[in-house]
Amino acid sequence: MRTVILKVNREEPEIDRIRAAAEIIRKGGLVAFPTETVYGLGADALNPEAVARIYTAKNRPPDNPIIVHVASRDEACRLTEEVPANARKLMDTFWPGPLTLVLKASGLVPRITTGGLDTVAVRMPGLKVTLALIAESGAPIAAPSANLAGRPSPTTAEHVRQDLDGRIDLILDAGPTKVGVESTVVDLTVDPPQILRPGGVPYEELKSTLDRVELHPVVLAEREIPLVQARSPGMKHRHYAPNAKVIVVEGRMDAIVTKVQELADQHRKTGKSVGILATGETESRYRADSVRSLGSRRDLASAAKNLFKLLREFDEDKVDIIVAEAVPPEGLGLAVMNRLRKASGFNIIRAD
Ligand code: TXA
Ligand code: MG
Repeated sequence: MRTVILKVNREEPEIDRIRAAAEIIRKGGLVAFPTETVYGLGADALNPEAVARIYTAKNRPPDNPIIVHVASRDEACRLTEEVPANARKLMDTFWPGPLTLVLKASGLVPRITTGGLDTVAVRMPGLKVTLALIAESGAPIAAPSANLAGRPSPTTAEHVRQDLDGRIDLILDAGPTKVGVESTVVDLTVDPPQILRPGGVPYEELKSTLDRVELHPVVLAEREIPLVQARSPGMKHRHYAPNAKVIVVEGRMDAIVTKVQELADQHRKTGKSVGILATGETESRYRADSVRSLGSRRDLASAAKNLFKLLREFDEDKVDIIVAEAVPPEGLGLAVMNRLRKASGFNIIRAD
């Protein structure tokens, strides 16, 4: 299959290009498209054969359900059995935007889309080009992140091409994404609501909107948690991993810097090529084969925006090991730390 790449304006999308993409979706094909978080790999959510192609193209385990993207609240309501007051409040406050709600699925949603669960994850994305694509397709769009399963999520069309060239019909290229980490996933079928995956909408903002909301234990996990029944099957699969082995160093700032350099030196002595994932404040203090910065520790939004791109760049540098500094788990930092810990396979070292 030949994969076509089509540039499109993210704020004023060219309608002929959107229509060409929508035509592919309507016919059961696969289109990678930008959202405000990361690029998604889309298919008609109500067409089981089309959704099956997503799993094949990504090598995605069949029990990992897919988020359904909608262009309106009404569309979300049709896909769900009921929308509790809590969910309405979240839609009012955060939609369109990087927030995904897990609700009881209506009979309209094929089981392959929900990975066999009786719930469905719905999200109304906050980018004009995405909303235009959904509206023109005339169907909700099922879309996981547009990477091969297990790889860092794509924040540019080029990342999508690296992973999926020849496996999908079209990539819509609207430049780098703004948020850089995926949406926050909140389960509203439990009481109190639970955050299954931290993401673009910070926990602090959800707490100020809902009376009660909890972090699922897996979000804060420092090691693999055995899940009897993973509510978010994505929780149990390896994720976000570059080719290099990742080590995360957590603790006080100064202790982190000392430990990171010590680990880098140790591994380089054994002949390994080592990359260090630093921050603006610490970058100049390191020596390694490759040192890259997430940006200032005071600007965790930029850390989120840069994370996946940097993990891919370390692979281009061909490093064997990435030693990564932890950032504070506040605001978007919680999503960054969740991705880093998973990317490391919970290879976490405490520095103090
Ligand atoms: O920002 C995003 O959310 C991006 C863009 C493309 O919208 N999408 C994305 O999709 O990150 P994906 O498939 O990479 O991650 C979806 C997560 C997975 O952890 C999955 O297990 C969980 O959402 N999920 C999907 N449906 C669910 C359901 N019914 N119940 C619980 N978790 C669900
Ligand atoms: Mg993903």
